[in-house]
Amino acid sequence: MITQQLARFPRLDLLGAPTALEKLTRLSEWAGRDIYVKRDDTTPLALGGNKLRKLEYLAADALAQGADTLITAGAIQSNHVRQTAALAAKLGLGCVALLENPIATQDQAYLGNGNRLLLELFDAKVELVENLDHADEQLHALAERLRNSGHKPYLVPIGGSNALGALGYVRAGLELAEQIKTLGIDFAAVVLASGSAGTHSGLALGLSESLPQLPVIGVTVSRTDEAQRPKVQGLAERTAELLGVPLPASLKVELWDEFFAPRYGEPNAGTLAAIKLLASQEGLLLDPVYTGKAMAGLLDGIGRQRFDDGPLIFLHTGGAPALFAYPGVWSA
Ligand SMILES: Cc1ncc(COP(=O)(O)O)c(C=O)c1O
Repeated sequence: MITQQLARFPRLDLLGAPTALEKLTRLSEWAGRDIYVKRDDTTPLALGGNKLRKLEYLAADALAQGADTLITAGAIQSNHVRQTAALAAKLGLGCVALLENPIATQDQAYLGNGNRLLLELFDAKVELVENLDHADEQLHALAERLRNSGHKPYLVPIGGSNALGALGYVRAGLELAEQIKTLGIDFAAVVLASGSAGTHSGLALGLSESLPQLPVIGVTVSRTDEAQRPKVQGLAERTAELLGVPLPASLKVELWDEFFAPRYGEPNAGTLAAIKLLASQEGLLLDPVYTGKAMAGLLDGIGRQRFDDGPLIFLHTGGAPALFAYPGVWSA
């Protein structure tokens, strides 16, 4: 049902092929539990990451509307803005981004290296703002300004997380369900970073039809369970509505919120330990804002026996370019 409904939506094929689902052999030995990784960090544009899946649908819509500029917003080190700007370049569109400094740092690496450096290469125009507390209004005001100067802007919401963007992760859920079927393994859970929620909502919806028993656990990167839950639930509802399918009764929002402290964009000791562990055991790069926190949650979950028996899947959503924005954290 979901597969047929999804096929009705125009999509730019930017991924080309499914991303790999592979076992992390040394980490599995270290943890005493089989851990697999779904490699969405390897999506094929501008150092990869989860946003390309959402942009397959959003950019198709932008082109259908005759847009000449993609506008979006995020943190100075936003992976979402990097991928949106790269795609705009690839499609011959302009890109304007509103950027905030969520950790109020003056660190030159944060302000100019990592993802921010890449925005210059993609010719994205950047407007620094005090904060993005009213991002939708701020983006609409920007769109109005651009229209007044003769442009045709297309508004990509923060994180690409509206119902249309979340379709990218519905599709990823169907892709992952196929891979799980091929492997023939009874997995105990999928763990991922839950931020603007499109990845979490879409993936849970995509997996719900064929694997209704498989828990999809979102490790929050910026909010408490209480604050994140309505975002994930609400977006899952809106995405199901857009697809024209009922929200499956099996879809349960599971959130772990003990790993994001002290706040969005600031790694804690567990984040850094998880990044170092994956790099040293597997040569795999996590990031200090999202996947390092999510992996810290997964490892803690194993230690505290929070999962049922069986192998685990970690959805690697990318973000490693931000490592270069945080050189100082390793010496502290
Ligand atoms: C590397 C990385 N992982 C996870 C996420 C979270 O995805 P979502 O915003 O869809 O919850 C993001 C969002 O920017 C990200 O850049």
